[in-house]
Formats: sequence, C-alpha cells, structure tokens
Amino acid sequence: MSDTGNIILMGYMGTGKTAVSKALADQMDKTYVSVDDEIEHSEGKKISDIFAENGEGYFREAEKRVLKEICSRTDQVIDTGGGAVLDKENMERMLESGISFCLWAGVDEIYERTKGEDHRPLLEAVDPKERIRKMLEERRESYEKALFHIDTNCKKIEEVVKEIREMIRYE
Ligand code: S3P
Repeated sequence: MSDTGNIILMGYMGTGKTAVSKALADQMDKTYVSVDDEIEHSEGKKISDIFAENGEGYFREAEKRVLKEICSRTDQVIDTGGGAVLDKENMERMLESGISFCLWAGVDEIYERTKGEDHRPLLEAVDPKERIRKMLEERRESYEKALFHIDTNCKKIEEVVKEIREMIRYE
C-alpha cells in the first residue's frame, strides 16, 4: 500500500467503524476523518436534527458532497456513515480512493451495541431488531463491494485493528 493511500471503513451502524478508525489512524499515523462529523460541521447541526428538520434525502445529499471532498484527499482513515454505500457514485469514489474494509456484526450484537443511544435516527423504531435485520439485508449487496471484510462479533477494538493492519501488510 502506498504511504499516502486512504483506508476506508464501511459497514452498518454499530459495527465499530468509529472506534476502529480512530485507533487505526493513531497507530498508522494517518488523519482520522469522520464523514458524519464533517456533515455536522458543514450543516452546523447534529445528524439527528438534520434528519428531523430536513429529512433523509437532504442528509444523503450532504453526505455525498462531503464524501466527495474527503475522498479527494489522501493519507486518511475515513470513517463513513453506514448508509454511504447506498449511492453508486459514493461507492465508486470510496473504492477508488484507497483500501476499503467492511466491518460486520450480527443483528443481536448490533442491537446490544446501539441500544440506549439517541444519535441514530434510523434506529428509532418500534422494533429496532427487525429494523436492523431488514436494513442489513437491503444493504448487504452494497457492503459486499468492499475489498476486505471483517467479522467484529465478540471482538475487541484492538483485535479488529490488528486484523486490518495484517491485511494491509499483505496488500
Ligand atoms: C446512517 C448511519 C450513521 C449516520 C446516519 C445514517 C445509516 O452513521 O450516517 O445516522 O444510514 O446507516 P454510523 O454508521 O456511523 O452510525
């Protein structure tokens, strides 16, 4: 892998993208960049407020704009939002911009990791487990386009980071 390449983390909500990206960036001396944080910064409000006040379509447009800008830079670990993969151009940009990883976890584990949190509007459902199961299935094909895949079930952040670093070493 070139020293300046990006590492892009994809995957459903609650699969550990943020914690893993931060630790990875730290260890590899790359810049940690969160697409969600940059959207909040450029819009001047929280993701949950963007969804509530402007709707998901508006959020997806902001996500696409911000992701395009981020993917044009180098030497970063990019922590993407779970739905960034839904747009074909987003996906092409992410795959071209560096080495992509998709983090996976089962429905029960995702539920346990995300319950009690209030910053993910798409998980505010009467039956959150059913919502997770359905969305995971709808998105599976898109997530599968990542170059590398990591099962994060029952794993600590450090273990996932180690696996990614080993995969990069042989890339
Ligand atoms: C979303 C995931 C969230 C955030 C937004 C939509 C999704 O990011 O971008 O709430 O569609 O899966 P995380 O995956 O970091 O929670």
